[in-house]
Amino acid sequence: MRGKKKSLYEQLYDEIKQDILSGRIADGAKLPSKRAQAERLGISVVTVENAYSQLLAEGYIAARERSGYYVCAGEVLQQDHLPEQEETPQEQPHVEADRRDSATSNSLFPFSVWTRLMRSVILEKGSNILAPVPPGGAPELQRAISAHLKSFRGISVPPHRIIVGAGTEYLNNLLVQLLGKNLTYATENPGYHKPSQIYRLNGALCLPIFLDEQGICAEQLYYSNVDVAHISPAHHFPTGIVMPISRRLELMKWASRRNGYIIEDDYDSEFRWSGKPVPTMFGLDNSGRVIYMNTFSMTIAPSVRISYMCLPAGLYDLWRKRLGFCSCPVPAFEQYTLARFISGGHFERHISRMRKYYRRVRELTLGLAQHYSSCSSAITEENAGLHFLMKIPDGSPLPELFADCGVKLSPLSEFFDEGSDIPGDISDSFVVNYASADAQRLAEICGE
Ligand SMILES: Cc1ncc(COP(=O)(O)O)c(C=O)c1O
Repeated sequence: MRGKKKSLYEQLYDEIKQDILSGRIADGAKLPSKRAQAERLGISVVTVENAYSQLLAEGYIAARERSGYYVCAGEVLQQDHLPEQEETPQEQPHVEADRRDSATSNSLFPFSVWTRLMRSVILEKGSNILAPVPPGGAPELQRAISAHLKSFRGISVPPHRIIVGAGTEYLNNLLVQLLGKNLTYATENPGYHKPSQIYRLNGALCLPIFLDEQGICAEQLYYSNVDVAHISPAHHFPTGIVMPISRRLELMKWASRRNGYIIEDDYDSEFRWSGKPVPTMFGLDNSGRVIYMNTFSMTIAPSVRISYMCLPAGLYDLWRKRLGFCSCPVPAFEQYTLARFISGGHFERHISRMRKYYRRVRELTLGLAQHYSSCSSAITEENAGLHFLMKIPDGSPLPELFADCGVKLSPLSEFFDEGSDIPGDISDSFVVNYASADAQRLAEICGE
């Protein structure tokens, strides 16, 4: 958070992470025990425990039973030559404004603030509001997103390299046009269906790649001659896998060797329930091979239809040459309103409210799930996002109870690519999505 002093555990986490990334602590090295580390630094064991848990969650270290914690970064990444901040070009190509409307539908939507901001946009901008915005988006929204990414995701990206689009789907379309339909695209299997549908609709070859317990594997990408891999490393949809740092580095090495690209879909990173947000691949990348994408569909409302992608410098130049003539599809009015919503601190407060609300909904949903679950391992990956996986045997009352309170249940098999071999052991696995649950009904059912 802007201006906020780091806690002790964050400082220790940062220090160990930097030591691992720079190679000062070698791959495979054993970390001091929590107690020894606490004594050495004169801090509490709980502080060390929190720092180690975060490193564990991000895959920098692994725990070995009755032995301790070991570094497992796979290889080190020198971070001391991150790209320098660029100047925003004076001129951006202009085209006609798009006047499509957008509606909101989320019950947590901050109607009064949004209405006030819309009024202030009209009153203050007057007829300027009718002028077209540049193809990449309204500069004030790009600046607001850039500042937000810096403080919330640790990403340094100049505003002009943030391309605003009408939803992630639109940006996927744009990316095929930008990178080329003659390339081979890869998507996660199981995964979010829309990207593969869009790549295929555009005439590109798109291969569904099975995941292991760490996500998509680099060997599969080499083996299948993939050029562009679309992944969700911070929290895979729908399995919830958080890709460890070693796997991220392997994929980045693949992209750099292959001259390929990674599309990093960070769609629900705002909803992490323990530890700090997992750092982005875009922030780690210094070879210009990662494209970062995020959306306001999860945090504001799906009907807002505003998302964005951050392009590496080389791709931004290509975008200007190849697609710089296209109008930005998001209405200027909504962009100005959203810009004020973010820069005025409302977005930050809105996310905190959402987190508070969903933390409660998550606890209730998990409580209900646990009450009727057959064993302790039936529920997995529930520490981020607004969904988790659960094994539900035939005859369980849970489907009916969940339906009663708006918790959506979908068989995991639905998320596999059409025609792919679905593993036999997932026939009773379901994705439990509580994004649109009725919290009050849920509490009643749980007897609270
Ligand atoms: C993995 C993933 N990415 C992105 C999105 C958001 O897409 P959009 O911005 O087009 O609404 C979703 C929404 O469900 C999603 O599940």
